[in-house]
Amino acid sequence: MAKSSKNDTRLPDLPLVGDITAYLKDGAPKQIRKAIEDGGKDDILDAGFPYPEEMSGKDYDARMEALQLQLVRMMHDVIATGKRLVVLFEGRDAAGKGGTIERVRENLNPRSAYIVALPKPTEREAGQWYFQRYVDYLPARGEIALFDRSWYNRGVVEKVFGFATDAQRDQFFRQLPDFERMLVDDGVILVKLWLNVGRAEQLRRFLAREKDPLKQWKLSWIDVEGLAKWDEYTDAIRQTLSLSHSPTAPWTVIRSDDKRRARIAAIQTILNTVDYAGKDTDAIGRVDPTIAGGPELLL
Ligand code: ADP
Ligand code: AMP
Ligand code: MLT
Repeated sequence: MAKSSKNDTRLPDLPLVGDITAYLKDGAPKQIRKAIEDGGKDDILDAGFPYPEEMSGKDYDARMEALQLQLVRMMHDVIATGKRLVVLFEGRDAAGKGGTIERVRENLNPRSAYIVALPKPTEREAGQWYFQRYVDYLPARGEIALFDRSWYNRGVVEKVFGFATDAQRDQFFRQLPDFERMLVDDGVILVKLWLNVGRAEQLRRFLAREKDPLKQWKLSWIDVEGLAKWDEYTDAIRQTLSLSHSPTAPWTVIRSDDKRRARIAAIQTILNTVDYAGKDTDAIGRVDPTIAGGPELLL
């Protein structure tokens, strides 16, 4: 693997997983490279994005504060009435799953609201029913489980990287509707969020991670190898969304090129799904339909 030109900022004990800067020069499609080289710092680069700029910090802070208060109310109700909430955060690498989850969780009681970010399956887990290891992390009464990636790995990354056979993937899609229906039948509130990042913005985030010693841990070989697999990801994502969107377990797709608007829409979607005492629909506000909607935003 080529050495990074930004090697000086790399923590000495972190392995170099690849060279994003080199990919920008030699591998990225011309229009993506041009978008990044021409783009100003605040430009939103995905050509289809409905706003020319990121939401201002002032607007964001005010909206976020109101939404955080609602999340705390929601948590009190979840605990008091014994609700069980599962929120799945899915999306391409660098779509903003981790940051969005942090904003959901930051003012909640960690005993009630917890993050589930499972590593790749162990040998033993690979020999189990595919959903089995996720079942261990489903919430009990009064708990909120925030999944940073989920069983949907089988639909997307495991397809793109060949970690599962086609037969395993077919079986996954056969079992999936029953699995999710059983959860919802049992009273679990299931929210499925798909964060969608554009190609230029994804690459820009990878470049930023490569330069920032606080963020280099987020870059994995999968991210680097995945750069050249954009279209394979697109196909796998389309197929996954169309096979797993149903009235029982619907997806909300959130455009996440602007992290601020995406985080707001994600929290609004969670609050709108849960009935809780003291819910203030004015404080939640209307979800921006150009930022969040059904899979048609993506298909
Ligand atoms: P993340 O984006 O979650 O930080 P990666 O981009 O490195 O992590 O990996 C994406 C997903 O692929 C992770 O959920 C990881 O567990 C999964 N994964 C990595 N290797 C394998 C494997 N050999 N088999 C199945 N899943 C894997
Ligand atoms: P509704 O269609 O919103 O009137 O909801 C009908 C029933 O489904 C109610 O009991 C809701 O609590 C439940 N419900 C609604 N949305 C979800 C969801 N995302 N996950 C689980 N249960 C839900
Ligand atoms: C994200 O930004 O979507 C996740 O935090 C991590 C990643 O997939 O790179």
